[in-house]
Amino acid sequence: MQELIEKIYRVKRERNAVILVHNYQRPEVQDIADYLGDSLGLSIAAAKTEAKVIVFCGVDFMAETAAIISPEKIVLMPEANAGCPMADMINADKLRDLKAKHLGAPVVCYVNSSAEVKAESDICCTSANSVKIVNSLPDKEVIFVPDKYLGLYTQSQSPDKNLILFDGYCPTHAKIMPEHINKAKIEHPQALVMVHPECRPEVIALADAVVSTSGMVKFAKESPAVEFIVGTEVGIIHRLKKDNPDKRFFPALNSAICPNMKMTTLEKVLWSLEDLKTEVKVPKEIADKARIAIEKMLAVGRQD
Ligand code: 13P
Ligand code: SF4
Repeated sequence: MQELIEKIYRVKRERNAVILVHNYQRPEVQDIADYLGDSLGLSIAAAKTEAKVIVFCGVDFMAETAAIISPEKIVLMPEANAGCPMADMINADKLRDLKAKHLGAPVVCYVNSSAEVKAESDICCTSANSVKIVNSLPDKEVIFVPDKYLGLYTQSQSPDKNLILFDGYCPTHAKIMPEHINKAKIEHPQALVMVHPECRPEVIALADAVVSTSGMVKFAKESPAVEFIVGTEVGIIHRLKKDNPDKRFFPALNSAICPNMKMTTLEKVLWSLEDLKTEVKVPKEIADKARIAIEKMLAVGRQD
């Protein structure tokens, strides 16, 4: 594996590339990251980098977002088929139907969505800033797509708003049930519970912290607690343990695995750099509209 990693670093230098990696990726892919983070952190890193080439180890909406923010850069996905089933639950037609039923209501769109859905939206959000984004709007009635669970959590933190939700959800987070958290609490009575806001409301009700993946990294580091139950995709456990060698982390559910996040391997990263494949391209007229919604979000920043 060391030989493969050295090759990746060599070709990366030759290409003037940067490797951006999401917190759910395979451990060995996380370990070669120039920047490892959540969706918001990765968007900011993509906007800031001076590298010519961005190798995006994550899923398609994340790489698409990077390509929209940095149209002058080459954005590569080592595994072009890595998608997000939640993002695929909505499309531009479905969003236009919802807008027609609630004329005048602005649209907040979770960054887990296609470029054409972003292009139909007023502002994007991630799990790290959904409450802050919704409250940055003057309107009471706000359309929030596509994640109904993130929407319900955001509504619970925004009592002055009336969110109109769409019936989307993450199949990986939806597998985590309250009984999994309760069982883990019995097994680890000293542990604090951190969950992702894509979880069901009944799961969120049992949590000590409801945060994005990088919010979990920060919470675990800053908390005096030494044990944590982690209610999200299990890939983040690698980073949590690496950053906090003296603390212990227990997945709420071992099978909370996002198959798309595991498709990217070190070999595919090398081939991607060698062949400059697969380049992510977003049609200009869609990218120009979607960029407005993404840049508005970046101006608001994080809440966690
Ligand atoms: P984060 O932005 O919190 O990393 O979440 C992305 C995601 O896809 C969660 O399922
Ligand atoms: Fe999409 Fe869920 Fe996978 Fe995140 S964990 S990329 S929301 S399917």
